[in-house]
Amino acid sequence: MRTHTFLVSLLAPLVTVYAQLADPNIVGTWSSGSKNVVTGPGFANPANTSFNYPKTTGVSFSFSDDNFYEIARYRFNGNGSEPNCITAVIGWVHGTYEKLANGSIVLTPFGDGYQQVQDPCAAQSNFMENYNQTELLRSFQMFRDPTFGLKLHLFQFDGAPIAPLFQVSTTPTMHPTRSLRNVTPPVEVLNKRSNGASPAADVAHLGAASSIVAAILSVTFASLAL
Ligand SMILES: *[C@@H]1O[C@H](CO)[C@@H](O)[C@H](O)[C@H]1NC(C)=O
Ligand SMILES: *[C@@H]1O[C@H](CO)[C@@H](O)[C@H](O)[C@H]1NC(C)=O
Ligand SMILES: *[C@@H]1O[C@H](CO)[C@@H](O)[C@H](O)[C@H]1NC(C)=O
Ligand SMILES: *[C@@H]1O[C@H](CO)[C@@H](O)[C@H](O)[C@H]1NC(C)=O
Repeated sequence: MRTHTFLVSLLAPLVTVYAQLADPNIVGTWSSGSKNVVTGPGFANPANTSFNYPKTTGVSFSFSDDNFYEIARYRFNGNGSEPNCITAVIGWVHGTYEKLANGSIVLTPFGDGYQQVQDPCAAQSNFMENYNQTELLRSFQMFRDPTFGLKLHLFQFDGAPIAPLFQVSTTPTMHPTRSLRNVTPPVEVLNKRSNGASPAADVAHLGAASSIVAAILSVTFASLAL
């Protein structure tokens, strides 16, 4: 015990700058890279299911101290076999989160999330769809970066890291923490898929009625590693 304490105190000065925080507080707003993607009204307008496109791609998470979360994501997907077919995906979702005893975080959406997919090479090159994925963050770590301050590392359900997030504010920048539009749950999706309909046919545009069948293309968003 003594030796251990001694070693730790000896090493502490060397590792402090990159030390993982023992009791990380994830409350606040976090953003990757150039921090142009930030949750809240500056990014998404749920009332009319639109987005204000950020200057650069990135991802942002907000967590409140009363267990609400919000995510803003904007990214391009390259396609190795079709270099001209770069897909843009921009998405917004919010809901409640729960920290599990094993260190994982479960994100349960309210149901009003949505994303826009632009794929110049697809039959339907630009569409909006509902996004309502429950997501598991397998683990997270926090560091104090000597230059950029607090840095949050989130890991996806499969352990893949999400781009490091820097703290933009200690209070979360969020929309009101309740469902902000009426969405009919996509009950028909399974039937549609099993009868062989093409995925594109399953995605209705978000119209004035604001009730669409989407889902299938859990595609893109679920595996977002931005
Ligand atoms: C959606 O609503 C926002 C905020 O009220 C507004 O700025 C924007 O112009 C609207 N966009 C569309 C496409 O209606
Ligand atoms: C790449 O493009 C091909 C042909 O359009 C398509 O079949 C494939 O699914 C695309 N891959 C990705 C990762 O988007
Ligand atoms: C924690 O528990 C949840 C629910 O059982 C599970 O899905 C997740 O993979 C677990 N996380 C770790 C790090 O084992
Ligand atoms: C969204 O997902 C949550 C959690 O699975 C579920 O309770 C809710 O009914 C879903 N909402 C819609 C509109 O699909």
